[in-house]
Amino acid sequence: MDVHSSSRPDQTRVRHLDLDLDVRFDRRILEGSVTLHFDRVTSDDLILDTRDLAIHSVENAAGYELGAADPFLGSPLRIRLAGPAGDPANDWVRVHYSTSPGASGLQWLDPPQTAGKRHPFLYTQSQAIHARSWIPLQDTPGVRVTYSARVRTPAGLRAVMGAEMRDGHFQMDQPIPSYLIALAAGDLAFRPLGPRSGVYAEPALVEAAATEFSDTEAMISAVEEMYGPYRWGRYDLLVLPPSFPFGGMENPRLTFTTPTILAGDKSLVSLVAHELAHSWSGNLVTNATWSDFWLNEGFTVYVERRVLERVYGAAREEMEAVLGRRELDREMAGLPEADRVLHLDLTGRDPDEGCTLVPYEKGALLLRTIESAVGRERFDRFLRSYFDHFAFRSITTADFLAYIQAELPNPVGLDEWIFRPGVPAGAAEPHSDAFTRVEAGWPADTSLWTTQEWLHFLRFQKDPDMARLDREFHLTDSRNSEILHQWLLMSVKTSYQPALPGIEPFLCSVGRRKFLKPIYTELMKTPEGQARARQIYAKARPGYHPIAQVTIDGIVGKV
Ligand code: BES
Ligand code: ZN
Repeated sequence: MDVHSSSRPDQTRVRHLDLDLDVRFDRRILEGSVTLHFDRVTSDDLILDTRDLAIHSVENAAGYELGAADPFLGSPLRIRLAGPAGDPANDWVRVHYSTSPGASGLQWLDPPQTAGKRHPFLYTQSQAIHARSWIPLQDTPGVRVTYSARVRTPAGLRAVMGAEMRDGHFQMDQPIPSYLIALAAGDLAFRPLGPRSGVYAEPALVEAAATEFSDTEAMISAVEEMYGPYRWGRYDLLVLPPSFPFGGMENPRLTFTTPTILAGDKSLVSLVAHELAHSWSGNLVTNATWSDFWLNEGFTVYVERRVLERVYGAAREEMEAVLGRRELDREMAGLPEADRVLHLDLTGRDPDEGCTLVPYEKGALLLRTIESAVGRERFDRFLRSYFDHFAFRSITTADFLAYIQAELPNPVGLDEWIFRPGVPAGAAEPHSDAFTRVEAGWPADTSLWTTQEWLHFLRFQKDPDMARLDREFHLTDSRNSEILHQWLLMSVKTSYQPALPGIEPFLCSVGRRKFLKPIYTELMKTPEGQARARQIYAKARPGYHPIAQVTIDGIVGKV
């Protein structure tokens, strides 16, 4: 049972969707229909998840009704199916609908919010439970569907989807969960990266993106050598405008990314390794409910680090692993015990707000610990067979436990790792020699330092000499988004005046939740900070994605 869906796939299970949509920038809506093809199991009803949708009519049904709206789940659409089950004429319905301008899974951007400033932009973000705000469907990762889509956009704007383009429409023949259905439209150019990969971005960014992501093919091959073939055909990336609330989103065949990783030196491409890794962990083998999210993200961070090691060497992997480990401790210290476990209880909660580093970093640390207990070779063989065994299926933590107990009995105390708070003793702790050198004192020569060394150096300062740091290293002028974010956060914490004017342009130009959340949280700790936070947020809020607005409303309050 998925507590975040009203649908009852045990009674009627949707198998395939045919979408037919107009992208109406003038009204900020998607308008059209979806035809749902299903198996009737035990019921004459089909219940779909919806949120803020206007349902115009339902074809081939005996009737329908839209239930009351739950604040997290939206409104169930209960459709009474026509005729007797078993007759193919009765195993589909067509819902005519339109979205609302405030749909939680859509962001409509005005031209000034894009790089080119001349055309509007639209993109979807369906994970975790926002697909229902742009398609009425069974919005649970336990249900997989294939789909086709016809999408009409105004002249000059290209639509892309995480699907194959075939004869003028999109087609996804591999069954995927609803949270991976994705669409974007805007002024997009394309550059190939390799035989089966490429990048879409606004014309002004596409060259820089192609240079930044030129190791993509090497990354794909690296995962394939370890865990078997890439099964999705093409792997393309789409660089979104800076308001995208996440670093990346692993939409199948078409990863969505923030432009804030275009650092110019490939220093932030671990995000590409991460989203690519989801093509195995997450997209092929999927968490059946959001309580099992660690199966998606923990496995993905583990695979991401293995890719980094193969493509960029052990020293880079070690640095990223130590950074992740430190951030896990930092975040976990502020979490209630119930949120320090891998298998989460999210009943009555918005899954977006239950998303912390615990499933990511504690999950990856568990896999790393199993690897060190059984040896890399055995663990790689296990993972490869895990991905094969569960390919194109959605599984629970219990399914994982049963499988590993059969294949690698009792490698480490799994129950403690999964169901108890914190990091158990005996975890395989990462270590970086480069970071040991960074910790040795004030550095003599930083000319060869990587972004990771800078981040560790800054986070390692207990009582930072902000003026000296800025004088020697010009951090206020950093053009690396991660370093600048770390520096601005420290500037708020220490009230370092010379950097504070930089907070507003930063918070007004990026919408990445990972950057916004810590800075607004820190600002809210003092009266002057609160005033600054409210003043900035009033200006910035209209440019944020609905998902980020919910998060920051919870920190700053409505402005
Ligand atoms: N699938 C996630 C993004 C996500 C998680 C969206 C939960 C909605 C709900 C994606 O793969 C991810 O983990 N992105 C991270 C980057 C990653 C390198 C840790 C992010 O956006 O920060
Ligand atoms: Zn992820």
